[in-house]
Amino acid sequence: MTNAGSGDRDANADERTSADERAGGGDPSDAAADPSDGGVAPPSWFREEAALTDPGIYDEFDTEWPDAWGRAADLLDWDRPYRTVLDDSEPPFYRWFPDGRLNAAANCVDRHLDGRRNQLAIRWFGKRGERRSYTYFDLHREVNAAAAALRELGVEEGDVVTLYLPMIPELPITMLACARIGAPHNVVFAGLSAEALATRLDAADSAYLVTCDGYYRREDAFNQKSKADNARLRIDGDLAATVVVDRLGDALSVPLGEDEHDYGTLIDRHDGETVAPVARDATDLLFVMYTSGTTGRPKGVEHATGGYLAHVAWTARNVLDVRPDDTYWCAADIGWITGHSYGVYGPLALGTTTVLYEGSPDYPDRDRVWDLIERNAVSVFYTSPTAIRSFMKWGAEYPDAHDLSSIRLLGTVGEAITPKAWRWYREHVGGGDAPVVDTWWQTETGAIALATLPGVTPMKPGRVGPPLPGIDARVVDETGDPVAPGEAGYLTIGKPWPGMLRGLREGEKRYRREYWLETDDGWRYRTGDGATVDDDGYVTILGRVDDVINVRTRRFNTAELESAIVAVDGVTEAAVVGDGDGGVVAYATTRSGVDPDDRTRAAIRDRLAATVGEIARPDRVVFTTELPKTRSGKIMRRLLEDITQDDEFGDISALRNPEVVGEIESAVRDDG
Ligand code: WT7
Repeated sequence: MTNAGSGDRDANADERTSADERAGGGDPSDAAADPSDGGVAPPSWFREEAALTDPGIYDEFDTEWPDAWGRAADLLDWDRPYRTVLDDSEPPFYRWFPDGRLNAAANCVDRHLDGRRNQLAIRWFGKRGERRSYTYFDLHREVNAAAAALRELGVEEGDVVTLYLPMIPELPITMLACARIGAPHNVVFAGLSAEALATRLDAADSAYLVTCDGYYRREDAFNQKSKADNARLRIDGDLAATVVVDRLGDALSVPLGEDEHDYGTLIDRHDGETVAPVARDATDLLFVMYTSGTTGRPKGVEHATGGYLAHVAWTARNVLDVRPDDTYWCAADIGWITGHSYGVYGPLALGTTTVLYEGSPDYPDRDRVWDLIERNAVSVFYTSPTAIRSFMKWGAEYPDAHDLSSIRLLGTVGEAITPKAWRWYREHVGGGDAPVVDTWWQTETGAIALATLPGVTPMKPGRVGPPLPGIDARVVDETGDPVAPGEAGYLTIGKPWPGMLRGLREGEKRYRREYWLETDDGWRYRTGDGATVDDDGYVTILGRVDDVINVRTRRFNTAELESAIVAVDGVTEAAVVGDGDGGVVAYATTRSGVDPDDRTRAAIRDRLAATVGEIARPDRVVFTTELPKTRSGKIMRRLLEDITQDDEFGDISALRNPEVVGEIESAVRDDG
């Protein structure tokens, strides 16, 4: 197998962009793939070894639905085999593999001991250059000790344990310890505030907390425990026990109060003990995850044990092509669903080596990610378009200076990837011809729902692709009727799927109201995303339905305008918001070395007018070094809108980079 440049891809795309720019013409390299073209075929070296290569898989899931999903369940070990694949007698509540019993931790750890106990399960890289590796044997030992410790503290099957930890091995270890004893976990992203933690502790009715003394960001140590203390003061109930991991130094640096325990001491005390994995009903709660909305109270999405794990394992294998002997890296934080499904459960269920990286991608230098890929011979890398845009902004010289030939497949998730970013990623990280799989899913879907199958389905840069086999996704209008190819509509999913949320913590009413639409044709799950579909059934995601702006009384989708702006040479990221007067303001960042000058400003204006229409010509273009982002990497347009329209800001505690707010405010003012 080789993934050296195949030579046939359009290596001149960038030159072409600038040539067309000068000519004032459109840029063919950045339009989404032409619907009539068949897309980019998976390279033959990839197909020869891919997990799934039979195009008959789509038909099989069509004709044998839902039984075909048994293929996914068969990737797992069951304590009691299921006989029923799906109980859909009470829609929109669906129970997958309802009479089966299994344990998720046993599936992610114990079953790999047989003959493979020295295989690496986790390779961890800390913020200060530390490394730790866990074989499956090591992982088994510590998960058991942690499970015994939780039991000692009083945790019983069904009790929700809240985990408030950064990207350290103790996070997946305690997740698996919870799963082992049948205690659902509730992971709260470590960067969230005390208030956010308190809300989630209360909402999940959780009396157990695992946190740490602090953690590092670049050179600085943050006090995590004091945030946890603060949260404890705010909650309605009380905590029965808190476990504190020593992350900062040789000894636990914070004083422990009553009902507070040092993780290290607990593990030492229980080292070598084994705790039998509790057989759980497939429909039992594995975890709850609060969605990272930017408004309103968070929703507690509940995932069941069997369907979730089956769907996650099936997609890790067939979409991301993860194999047991891979070193695989999902760059997402475990504090979000991507890290749960594809940083922990998917790869460990398949018995592979998963990389956990605590640090920043640009520290100590902007080649940190490429350095880690090279040093660990990472073969599958999964990240977000936001990260890819940062990489592009920093420059191709960073990846180009490393040997990335170990890469076999690249994945993206979280937002639409522009054709330009897709090509850059493939060219500079994927050796020119590795499959780049754009995957669409949500916290609620639990696992990937739309994507190409890399060994089967051609890719179209800028389009997610068709629904996976067995996923009944359709783009519909307000009345629920499918829209014509090319027309914008709402992305919905008809039939249930195994990874789907079991319900919401807030109850049945809220679950129905948030997600379900009853049509003549049965129940449909509403994703909240707008989309179009082409003649080949490839879906293009336009963004959340609420990411729509009115420009001079015409509706535009933000992604549509932003994709046109980033097609301008030198521009890396863009966000558009309404100015409150029917006009549009474009915010943009440029690649290092490119001056955000009047030429670029004019190019952006002209580009929007040319590709979207004169009506979309922005009234103002504001350059800034960064755009405000949530911790999951979403651009916070609402905040930009507030700044633009000189309104009071809403809550900005969800911001990852609050320091840019001041800069943006003065940029807006200077630009007048
Ligand atoms: C929303 C879900 C599980 C993914 C991490 C975020 C957007 C996700 C794509 C994609 C365009 C995407 C959608 C979706 N999204 N993947 N490939 N192309 N948009 O999970 O926080 O639950 O957000 O992310 O808008 O609804 P989340």
